[in-house]
Amino acid sequence: MNKSPIGVFDSGLGGLSTVRAIKKLLPNEDIVYFGDTGRVPYGTRSNETIESYTAQDIKFLQSFDCKMIAVACGTVSTVSRRLIEALPLPSTGILTPSAKAAAAATKNNKIGIMGTSATINSGAFDEEIKAFNPEAEITSVACPLLVSLVESNWCSVDDDVTNPAVRRYLKDILSAGCDTIILGCTHFPHLAPIVQKIAGDGVTLIDSGLEEAKYIRDYLSENGMLNGESHIGKARYFVSDRPQNFSSAAETLLGENIENECEFVDIFKFFR
Ligand code: DGL
Repeated sequence: MNKSPIGVFDSGLGGLSTVRAIKKLLPNEDIVYFGDTGRVPYGTRSNETIESYTAQDIKFLQSFDCKMIAVACGTVSTVSRRLIEALPLPSTGILTPSAKAAAAATKNNKIGIMGTSATINSGAFDEEIKAFNPEAEITSVACPLLVSLVESNWCSVDDDVTNPAVRRYLKDILSAGCDTIILGCTHFPHLAPIVQKIAGDGVTLIDSGLEEAKYIRDYLSENGMLNGESHIGKARYFVSDRPQNFSSAAETLLGENIENECEFVDIFKFFR
């Protein structure tokens, strides 16, 4: 048994898709979440900047003696992949769990990837999917605008700005005939109902947050690292900008009020 928390981080609200899934699959686990809301978005920045932010975010989470680091950010999972793999504690990103799930789900070997510009430019998803399925034909689309729409909490299924934006980004993926789409940025599972409505029921969506949470569950259970079953998991949230902005959007995305659990942290104190 291991009672330490799981450390989860993202540039902002997106990683709550991983938190939501961890809470469901692992209700006995404590979570420390960091959302770098003062520096979001990450996905339009250079690899050097993303790696520097990654190192600071991890350093902050390590101050909680986390038993595992879950990178709940597609951009960090792809661009800072080597840095995460070199950590001296168990860690995961969304890359391998999502690529594996997509390779298993596709029937026509045509897989679409929606991600940030940095993720798509890294080519990491293409590489990882090919490792599981060398026959896969991949259509990748950078969807940077969708990150801001989620940060603005414009996620409702009928939103009249988000719908045309999603439709436009999906154009190439749908015309390529993809039967499986990876929501390869953790902000995007919050838009899953819109993506599904536009793509149609015949298309399988891979929720990167859910796939990551399944990996965490399996890893902790196989390594005897789960918390005791009598423990009720608690979550603390830290952000690098106004907590009120984060907690009010998080209430819709998580379906619970986290106002009292959300605090500001000066992330600049955590040098790489
Ligand atoms: N949620 C993030 C991702 O998965 C970050 C988006 C951004 O900050 O640009 O890529």
